[in-house]
Amino acid sequence: MPSGPLSARLARRLARWVMADYWGLGECLADTVCLLVSEIAGNAVRHTGARAVGLRMSQCSSWIGVRVRDPSRALPCLLPTRGMDISGRGMFLVDNLADRWGADIEPCGKTVWFHCALPSGGGGGNRSGALPMPTGG
Ligand SMILES: Nc1ncnc2c1ncn2[C@@H]1O[C@H](COP(=O)(O)OP(=O)(O)OP(=O)(O)O)[C@@H](O)[C@H]1O
Ligand SMILES: [Mg+2]
Repeated sequence: MPSGPLSARLARRLARWVMADYWGLGECLADTVCLLVSEIAGNAVRHTGARAVGLRMSQCSSWIGVRVRDPSRALPCLLPTRGMDISGRGMFLVDNLADRWGADIEPCGKTVWFHCALPSGGGGGNRSGALPMPTGG
């Protein structure tokens, strides 16, 4: 995806489309996955100066996986926040709502990823909704 103010919205729309139309999942997990996609795609835009970010989604019988790639090797962190703070909560949401998350350092950047478990019986086979990954900068 091109990196800019609309990237998080585009990521949400792509994620919803992949889950509903491509994978044929119901509404289960859609809001949670879209929220978390939005947070990590937004982070890739805001915190890295990327010209493009990559979004890759995959599904197996028990979970949905989302990976967002950017060209920075700086890692996301959980910030301490207080009640009235208006930022610093994106990774807190990821940490609380995803079943697993992490960041994989790569030679020219990193990939931040999370998994959300599907309700039992909610999945299909192994499928991937891969979108082109950025080549850098
Ligand atoms: N993709 C990333 N690349 C580099 N640093 C990141 C990335 N994502 C997050 N960070 C770092 O981790 C911090 C915490 O991210 P988090 O999403 O929780 O808060 P935020 O983006 O600062 O605020 P909010 O998401 O609430 O608007 C960020 O302030 C930033 O320093
Ligand atoms: Mg954030």
